[in-house]
Amino acid sequence: MSYSKWDLAIAEDVIASFRDEPGPVLIALQAIQNKFGYVDDAAIDLIAETFNVSRAEVFGTFSYYHDLKSSPSKTGRTVKICAAEACQAVGCESLIDAAIKAGLEVEKGYCFGNCALGPAAMIGDQLIGRATLEKLK
Ligand code: FES
Repeated sequence: MSYSKWDLAIAEDVIASFRDEPGPVLIALQAIQNKFGYVDDAAIDLIAETFNVSRAEVFGTFSYYHDLKSSPSKTGRTVKICAAEACQAVGCESLIDAAIKAGLEVEKGYCFGNCALGPAAMIGDQLIGRATLEKLK
């Protein structure tokens, strides 16, 4: 998945498209993350203003969900590796260590719904079953 460079006008369009949705704050945060790869601080203010809620409310939602990031990926290619129970049972911790040692930008996730094919990983929207270091590279 490739992300757009942060742009306030694009962010305004993305956020405005959720104006009539129920629970628009979380949906708008996810849409901004999907568009830019992270949620710029300016988007917090923009969402609060657009949906007439406090900045604290938007930030509270943002900070609750660990998948929402406040800065862009350093490499633009973050590998998410599941660290939940089923994947722990098949060695995700050693895969995480190996991936970090190999210089990959690793983020732990918690169950991608692919437990039978653990260890599970994700790169962008692509789900990887029986993940190995070679597959991740
Ligand atoms: S526990 Fe890893 S995908 Fe479910």
